[in-house]
Amino acid sequence: MSGQYYDVVDATPFLYGYYHTKEISLIRDALRAFLSNHDFPGQNNHRILDIGCATGRAIESIHAEAPGSLFVGLDISPKMVRLAKTRRNSPIELLVGDIRCLPFRKGAFDFVYTLEVLEHLARKTKGIPAAVSEVMRVTRAGGSCTFESTSFWHFQLQEIISRGLPGAHVSLLQQRGLTRFSKTYRTSPLSVAEPSRPGFISELIRSYGGKIESTSWIRVIPEQTFVVLSSDPIRSILTRADELLTRLPGLRRLGREFVIRCVKTTG
Ligand SMILES: C[S@@+](CC[C@H](N)C(=O)[O-])C[C@H]1O[C@@H](n2cnc3c(N)ncnc32)[C@H](O)[C@@H]1O
Repeated sequence: MSGQYYDVVDATPFLYGYYHTKEISLIRDALRAFLSNHDFPGQNNHRILDIGCATGRAIESIHAEAPGSLFVGLDISPKMVRLAKTRRNSPIELLVGDIRCLPFRKGAFDFVYTLEVLEHLARKTKGIPAAVSEVMRVTRAGGSCTFESTSFWHFQLQEIISRGLPGAHVSLLQQRGLTRFSKTYRTSPLSVAEPSRPGFISELIRSYGGKIESTSWIRVIPEQTFVVLSSDPIRSILTRADELLTRLPGLRRLGREFVIRCVKTTG
């Protein structure tokens, strides 16, 4: 991945930009909930870890919620960490590392989150259990952690639709002047996001001492709809309808992404 990822996010506010904004707002909600349970007046000195922080945009968006806390960003890509170091003004510690083998002691953090990383792990059957186990290990008892992944069921649906609309994403990226990304997408479409079953991740969280507090969903309506319908007013109506769908029990499980928030119960 390169810094170009955020060019795509910024150029597609109704699609990748939307997922990104929703994910950040769910992390902000989780942090507020955590702080409201743990903060005493005048105290705000928690240790917060963003795994797969890329250029540090998520940290930047939530930093004001807990200004006295220590924010640490970790990413497997030295290039991303270099970019993050040159771009950030806020006091963030940044380091290169792998979610499957975190360079921190047990219980080192109060609040941990990982956005858009699980779906990029190679050899998932081993990679995801190692990642979940490590996140739970570095979260202290009573601390909070949040995991995001793309969902298997939604991608099954998209797979079927894309047979009828081949190349929809590529043409969208070309329209938006993102041809370099569109070439990558064409050659390795599945490396962009390989989904998981939410039940699989939830079971792992429980088995490593987590108690699930909530599971939220992002975007039920398949993204090809937003690519094909290029009128912004229609996209905005669809987005509002989609917000309702992500709250409907049963149907929301078809969402593209799920975000699981949990509390670490054991030491
Ligand atoms: C799609 S980006 C998401 C960045 C950021 N979390 C966000 O939501 O804006 C995925 C990031 O995860 C990083 N990454 C991929 N595999 C990783 C691993 N095993 N450990 C830590 N970071 C990883 C990539 O280098 C990349 O910066």
